[in-house]
Amino acid sequence: MVKKPAIPRHVGLIMDGNGRWAKKRHKPRNFGHSAGMDAMIKLAAHAKELGVKYFTVYALSTENLKNRPKDELDGLFDLLRKYFSKNIKELYANGAAVKVIGDISPLPEDVKTLLSDGEKNSPKDAEFTLTFAINYGARSEIVRAAERLVAKRLDGVEITEQSFSESLDTAGLPDPDLIIRTGGEIRLSNFLLWQAAYAELYFSPVLFPDFGCDELDKALAEFSMRNRRFGGV
Ligand code: FPP
Repeated sequence: MVKKPAIPRHVGLIMDGNGRWAKKRHKPRNFGHSAGMDAMIKLAAHAKELGVKYFTVYALSTENLKNRPKDELDGLFDLLRKYFSKNIKELYANGAAVKVIGDISPLPEDVKTLLSDGEKNSPKDAEFTLTFAINYGARSEIVRAAERLVAKRLDGVEITEQSFSESLDTAGLPDPDLIIRTGGEIRLSNFLLWQAAYAELYFSPVLFPDFGCDELDKALAEFSMRNRRFGGV
């Protein structure tokens, strides 16, 4: 009997290389981010079709928000505005939900409202969740989780790995099985550091806008060959 390849339940995606992709075409960085958003939409739909249940994309790090030029950040906010007011309808229609992780408090008011409404209006019994990490940094998330746990301790909650996990922004999501980074760098850049304890890592040299469904298929094929031991033999 042919064994069906293992499909990861939760895939994390570090969408790197948009700026370099645009530069090669003598275009501004936001042209690359816009192409990246198109690529992300296709990949999420493909992942859902293949049976992935959770897809988490790194859209803006805490460091990006501090260090990227204002016009680039404005372009990224415009892409989020567009996604959360237009594309999201198709996602809902396909029975999928959106979630946001990260500290969105410093974002423009209208973007914050769109993000919160996007989460609130998501189908409750979703079979697929697309999570956007926005102004997200794992270290900052871990500090926020510690603060939340201190408050919960007053109600008698013990500090355990489980209660800590449940205090992270990702509460309710399973840990990622596979984390993919495009664009050639071999690092996690502050993405899901607690949750990635046993994730399989896949690094691709392909710049994000060129990372199509065929590239995702390659990553999933490699994942299905990995021997996950979780500390066992
Ligand atoms: C880490 O690289 C990568 C990210 C935090 C993803 C950032 C992605 C975007 C800004 C594009 C968003 C795309 C869409 C489709 C909205 P890094 O350059 O921040 O980290 P590094 O300095 O360690 O390489």
